Amino acid sequence: MPFEIVRNDITRMKVDAIVNAANRSLLGGGGVDGAIHKAAGPDLLAECRTLNGCEVGEAKLTLGYRLPARYVIHTVGPVWHGGHSGEREKLSACYRNSLELAWEKGCESIAFPLISTGAYAYPKEEAMTVAEAAIRAFLDRHDMTVYLVIFGREALSLGKKLFRDVQEYIDDVYEKTHLGPKELSRRAAWLQEEEKALEVDKNLMAGAAEPLFDAEMAAPPRMPDWETLLRETDEGFSEALLRLIDEKGMSDVECYKRANVDRKLFSKIRSNRDYKPSKSTVCAFAVALGLTLPEARALLEKAGYALSHSSKFDIIVEYCLAHRVLDVYEINEVLFAHDVPLLGSCGKLA
Ligand code: APR
Repeated sequence: MPFEIVRNDITRMKVDAIVNAANRSLLGGGGVDGAIHKAAGPDLLAECRTLNGCEVGEAKLTLGYRLPARYVIHTVGPVWHGGHSGEREKLSACYRNSLELAWEKGCESIAFPLISTGAYAYPKEEAMTVAEAAIRAFLDRHDMTVYLVIFGREALSLGKKLFRDVQEYIDDVYEKTHLGPKELSRRAAWLQEEEKALEVDKNLMAGAAEPLFDAEMAAPPRMPDWETLLRETDEGFSEALLRLIDEKGMSDVECYKRANVDRKLFSKIRSNRDYKPSKSTVCAFAVALGLTLPEARALLEKAGYALSHSSKFDIIVEYCLAHRVLDVYEINEVLFAHDVPLLGSCGKLA
């Protein structure tokens, strides 16, 4: 999984490089800077002294010494002054320059803290968005495993509308499990209406783009009914996935990058028709391919899985597919906030 959000202490990460949220002197400080110097030992400071400091947005590399990581990449984030003094560009440069430096050194894995969100007071939610955008842009062009390390029990900000909507849906679904059959069928009918309405909107949108002359001629080619196709053919998951990628007009690379699935795993799926991916990997591809909920269910069935309301992971994925939230990074933030495995991870699902 190229990009993963994890809850940990960055000094414990066994990766090629960890990134230090330092200050311009590079001579140590508090927060993650202090933790890294403490864990690495005095040789780190001795090497930092030879670097002559570091400008905001820049990145400089040292060895990791007593740390499990081979290297430490020191970068200096911007201090938050309200967001109108180029903070976003400077913070983005921290991630971009650290990633480029790690790439030049041949690193295959790197771990970041949420730079500037401690003493430098950059709001966590905005910082997360900047970090993800910079990491995604890098991973579109390179293969590397990138961790974003959230410290201890720190919660991710739940301010985003998606977090609130998903929380309501989870509460609602859990509530459903205690509702009588009458209320259940009413709600199931409502969900069906919702899905139909989504379909109608989609077709209307597609139709609206068409000139109003001979509808037969101009009508876009009828999209095959993937759900039926997937259910009726006896092809395995791997063949179904590759066919969907072709039919959706995507390249393999575009699909697995969008699914946040690494190249090696994709080539395993591609070369072995009986390969059994994890449920979260199948869901990651369903999101990347923009499948509707019924189509996603049919693809999951190919790999021997089903979505159920007994698992938060399933409920969150169901909500996002039904409401056309098709950004794996965005969905992973919500999954992380609920302490369940992320899309594309091989983690055991409840
Ligand atoms: N592992 C992972 N993340 C950590 C750890 C740790 N061991 N310790 C702290 N963090 C998190 C904080 O919770 C915060 O979310 O790292 C993020 C960055 O916080 P700071 O370390 O305060 O860094 P920053 O906000 O960039 O301020 C840098 O603080 O420590 C001084 O010398 C440093 O002057 C510089 C300034």
